[in-house]
Amino acid sequence: MVSRQSIAIDGPAGAGKSTVARELARRLGWLYIDTGAMYRAITLKALRRGLNLKDEKSLEALARESRIEMTTDPGYATRIYLDGEDVTRAIREPEVSRHVSLVARLPGVREVMVHRQREMAESKNVIMDGRDVGTVVLPDAGLKIFLTASPEARARRRQQDLQAQGHHVPLDLLIREIAERDRLDSSRPVAPLMPAPDAWVIDSSNLSVEQVVEMITARVRGRFS
Ligand code: CDP
Ligand code: CDP
Repeated sequence: MVSRQSIAIDGPAGAGKSTVARELARRLGWLYIDTGAMYRAITLKALRRGLNLKDEKSLEALARESRIEMTTDPGYATRIYLDGEDVTRAIREPEVSRHVSLVARLPGVREVMVHRQREMAESKNVIMDGRDVGTVVLPDAGLKIFLTASPEARARRRQQDLQAQGHHVPLDLLIREIAERDRLDSSRPVAPLMPAPDAWVIDSSNLSVEQVVEMITARVRGRFS
């Protein structure tokens, strides 16, 4: 059997994980897997059905019965399908962002997601980003990165992204939302957000996307070539 390579990128919201991971995947020709999108898709479905987000049994059953697929186009943009429906935009709605950490803290939901994520990494070289990729999903990843930045820098990036979509959201509101998600993700008992002991921690507060990608590419060349 050919052994597969993987890179894990974890970190808090707005650190630049998906932007950096997508560019690295494009350069290496590897598959990019956005694990956060999977938790978002389940959250979207639960909200649409009006389920109680504390009801672990119902949420776990929902995760099990849901079909989540991801496709990557030649420009390395990812599209997410939930039971055949394209939910790429819907899973980024503020309503989903506000509730996703409640769903992601349920161990039953995580078990289903982690199992699927490992399956996806079995047949291809992957770059996977999320919160627990280096610690739980792919503990044997060849390179583990914990990408972080100050809450202010992350909120400013989110604000710019939203501005580009025509929404003006006050910075202090975004800082509060990001801080609350950090708190929930870091304090949950199962798979909390934290760097793996062997992770390379990069603070991107004062770095551009290009600088982060270059730093990682230099290390990838040494490790995987
Ligand atoms: O894009 P953003 O950083 O805002 O978040 P995301 O990667 O889409 O993840 C959304 C949420 O899903 C996180 O805040 C976590 O609560 C949860 N998540 C998780 O628990 N484990 C992962 N591996 C990925 C995401
Ligand atoms: O996936 P995650 O939530 O960690 O962040 P993202 O969705 O990639 O969003 C990060 C945003 O900040 C994007 O608009 C990037 O262009 C920008 N950015 C960055 O990712 N990294 C930097 N070093 C500087 C800006």
